[in-house]
Amino acid sequence: MSQNSPLAASLKEEMIKLDAWLKECSRQYYELDVSPISDAEYDAQFKRLQRLELEHPDLAPKDSITHQVGSRPAKQFKTITHRVPMLSLDNVFNEEQLTQFMQRAASRLGASYDLEHLEWVAEPKIDGLACNLLYINGQLTLAATRGNGVEGEDVTSNVKTIKDIPLKLNTSTPPDLIEIRGEVYMPIQALEQYNARARERGQVTLANPRNAAAGSLRQLDSSVTAARHLAFFAYALGDYQGANPPRSHLELLERFKSWGLVVSDQIKKVTGLSGCLEFFKQLGARRAKLPYDIDGAVYKINDLALQQRLGFVARAPRWAIAHKFPAEEQMTVLKDIVFQVGRSGVITPVAILEPVMVNGAKVSRATLHNLSEIRHKDLKIHDTVIVRRAGDVIPEVVSAVLAKRPLNAKNIEPPKVCPVCGSAIIYHPRSDIQLFCSNWHCLAQLKAHLEHFVSRGAMDMQGWGSELIKELLERHLIKDVADLFSLTSGQLSSLERKGERSVNNLINSRERAKTTTLTRFIFALGIQDVGIVTARDLVKHFNGDFNAMRRASLEQLQEVPGIGEVVAQNWVDFFSSDENNALVDRLIAAGITWQAAPVLERDATTTITANGQEITINGKPLEGQKLVVTGVIEPYSRQEMTELLLKLGAAQVSSSVSKATNLVLVGENPGAAKMQAAERLGVTKLSWAELVQRLTK
Ligand code: IVH
Repeated sequence: MSQNSPLAASLKEEMIKLDAWLKECSRQYYELDVSPISDAEYDAQFKRLQRLELEHPDLAPKDSITHQVGSRPAKQFKTITHRVPMLSLDNVFNEEQLTQFMQRAASRLGASYDLEHLEWVAEPKIDGLACNLLYINGQLTLAATRGNGVEGEDVTSNVKTIKDIPLKLNTSTPPDLIEIRGEVYMPIQALEQYNARARERGQVTLANPRNAAAGSLRQLDSSVTAARHLAFFAYALGDYQGANPPRSHLELLERFKSWGLVVSDQIKKVTGLSGCLEFFKQLGARRAKLPYDIDGAVYKINDLALQQRLGFVARAPRWAIAHKFPAEEQMTVLKDIVFQVGRSGVITPVAILEPVMVNGAKVSRATLHNLSEIRHKDLKIHDTVIVRRAGDVIPEVVSAVLAKRPLNAKNIEPPKVCPVCGSAIIYHPRSDIQLFCSNWHCLAQLKAHLEHFVSRGAMDMQGWGSELIKELLERHLIKDVADLFSLTSGQLSSLERKGERSVNNLINSRERAKTTTLTRFIFALGIQDVGIVTARDLVKHFNGDFNAMRRASLEQLQEVPGIGEVVAQNWVDFFSSDENNALVDRLIAAGITWQAAPVLERDATTTITANGQEITINGKPLEGQKLVVTGVIEPYSRQEMTELLLKLGAAQVSSSVSKATNLVLVGENPGAAKMQAAERLGVTKLSWAELVQRLTK
């Protein structure tokens, strides 16, 4: 297939679709114990996706089913739930970001800790696969991959073939139970040997050390794993039960070593930010000589009690950070530019590159966002360009190498008509850098509109995925979103693979989706720049009166907090079109309804953490309340706590106590002035635990 042809469904789209389809098959297989396709067909399609991903790793869908736990081929590995979740690390890419991270950590710990005196353990960041080893009474009992952090795969028999991993800890006094975490990796030499042999035999080579480790560990036949010569570095603790727990990270690593595990010899205790930066510099200089691949450094606070005090945010600790090496840059040739049409008709230039390996992945396309980027970077077709992967993932053209510009270098001309439907192009009214297709019925736009309309955050029409929409469009059964509601069971059952049961499911989910919220409905319309938050702001401001919103003038719209000129104009543009109004009327006539004001959100629940437990709270129990927070409430930062309280309905979270304050939330080390003001004004004071108790009553 020619990637240059904008009309050809792009390879990326094909992979995304295949991935979505396999996930749906897999879901049905696991959850419903039925399958839309035979096992053999599933396996063939799965392999096809794997092959496409191997050939075009840069186009591979994020979270592809081929990497997931629970996909069908993984069924042979038992899924296990980690006793303590296996977290990930946040990344920083430069000194400034590292300084910010370390400053936050120090200031959270309090005045007696400062940036230059905190003690860190600096380690290399190994490029492999995280693994958890459970030892009970010193005996290796279970080994599991990280999986999604909560659930992983039981790879015990394969892990037992790794020589760095003792089956029994070398100590007469092991803890009752310990989870030892670390990285399974393939040393560079083993990887090179494997690939040399694979090339000789005409077999697929292992793309990078990470894939190599993952692929080798997830073999069904342990003798295959054994032959791949994997290695293991221990670097962290999971669960620990027993006497004498370690008090520092270094002490932990020392114990690992004495028990017969392998710990990287590059690890060093350092002091303060400057110590970490010095380590980073030295590690960078040694990188090329190391017998394994690393992609940066990891810094961890040495004192385990301090680690515990800092805790976690989302899925990463506040006491450790990965400092990544700068992204690798490579030179290649810009072969062509294609223009892609996305949702709401935006036309985006995409660079087609001579394929090149960057940080272990093949890069052959990179988005250029808009015309200004092309101008700014002074790119021409046939130029030699520098590419890298931003944040180590997304391919990006950095610049053209002007010294290598060939004589036949060609200017990049913006398209004169839409590359999908041939309609006229319009420029964004407020800038000349963004191109749009003028045709609301453009197939590319229409498909994207439909997919957005049915999506989970919008109308949530379960089962109405992109495959189905594609088929409905191809068979000319629909031409706009309102048509979705007039499709009959007969029409749906005429589609491929649609038996009575699936048709019933589709009809039922469509019926359920008709009762929605006004916020979701507005979001579903896909008006340019009107996201779910803007939709909610509008609904709130107009008190749920949709007709008033439709009639609203530019000035009225700009009175809505959070809505500026651009969004207001988009809104007015949308509702000044007769066609759009007719469409909205047809949707309402099809039976779409929402509750009248006050606006009730379908998913108005908030999950909070109190006393180390997660609790779900319904609705907005703090509606209208004015709160003041003082002191530290673990595990939240002040910002997070403020957001949480606002989400629970609080009208205001301010920093000073006044007569208007309804409640003072008191954490650890509260401020004396606030406490005294609360006393004096007789404002209720509650701890976080007390407040949560009230909210859940
Ligand atoms: S510590 C709670 N230390 O990096 C912290 N991770 O990007 C747990 N990794 O999933 C991880 N080298 O697979 C830690 N020296 C090191 C590491 C390391 C590599 C990997 C690990 C983790 C990922 C996060």
